[in-house]
Amino acid sequence: VGHIDDVQELKKVKKAAIPKRFVRDVAERPTLATAPCSPLKNVPVIDFSKLLHGNPNEFHGEISKLAASCEDWGFFQVINHGIDLSLIENIAKVGMDFFMLPLEEKQKYPMAPGTVQGYGQAFVFSEDQKLDWCNMFALGLVPHFIRNPNLWPTKPEKFSETVENYSKEIRKLCKSILCFLALSLGLDRDVFEEMFGEAVQAIRMNYYPACPRPDLVLGLSPHSDGSALTVLQQGKGSSVGLQILKGNKWVPVQPIPNALVINIGDTIEVLTNGRYKSVEHRAVTHKEKDRLSIVTFYAPSYETELGPMPELTDKNKPCKFRRYNHGEYSKHYVTNKLQGKKALEFAK
Ligand code: SIN
Ligand code: FE2
Repeated sequence: VGHIDDVQELKKVKKAAIPKRFVRDVAERPTLATAPCSPLKNVPVIDFSKLLHGNPNEFHGEISKLAASCEDWGFFQVINHGIDLSLIENIAKVGMDFFMLPLEEKQKYPMAPGTVQGYGQAFVFSEDQKLDWCNMFALGLVPHFIRNPNLWPTKPEKFSETVENYSKEIRKLCKSILCFLALSLGLDRDVFEEMFGEAVQAIRMNYYPACPRPDLVLGLSPHSDGSALTVLQQGKGSSVGLQILKGNKWVPVQPIPNALVINIGDTIEVLTNGRYKSVEHRAVTHKEKDRLSIVTFYAPSYETELGPMPELTDKNKPCKFRRYNHGEYSKHYVTNKLQGKKALEFAK
């Protein structure tokens, strides 16, 4: 992706005309029918303090709510997660500061095609593919060998340190969410941790500049996540942008201050044989406001062999997915364009 396709630079050109590569076909546009005016209920909110410290009644109530959220929505928002708010504010600050750097500075860390690390647009493979109204910066974090030290920015000053501190806490959160998911399925609480080995963790920052024609473009193409779990934070004061597909309608996820949005990725859909859903989502843009989202992906180690868990399949619930290696799935995911739930066909 060259200079001309960098959406932040386009904004500086100050033309209201949107370049053709960003203009979506009519069927893909965020039309009025799908705009944030849906009377549908919102994504469920889970009170994490009830899972960690609640009395047995509160605990079981919240576990049932968690199960229902994963079955019906594939998404939930977590409040009272216990993560220090300064970590959340700091990561949003260094993220924003990074995107505000001059293009030449950011381009010192170019995202190589077919990878999702560095600055640029991921998942672009052909000239006729539409582009997202978004700039990304992503880093692999764990295990250590996936890190590319050349892609860790030296500016803003506290960037690396802040990413490390934030990511350590998010890793703990992912581990405990996986325990609660296991319990909510009637499984042993450590079942996912034991299966995953040293889980893969990556961070991606998405910056969506305000767009003069939000009705014509998408911030991020519809997709489901290739992870087990995804943790998303929306920068303070940013516009509503995330929408999830529920029964043929795009439902906006209303930001709750300091909450974290969690979604089930393809791995958990496969392991639970489709009981917990990896739901398609997208991001839309806003006419005046820009938006920053900070996303953590948590996935099994590449060696992990996956398939529907025997505890969750039987004669009445036959396997919907085959067994496969997660490293191969991951490779398949990052070398194809984002296209709804298409990546998951790999597992069929
Ligand atoms: C994502 O799906 O990776 C991010 C969506 C968002 O920015 O809200
Ligand atoms: Fe996503």
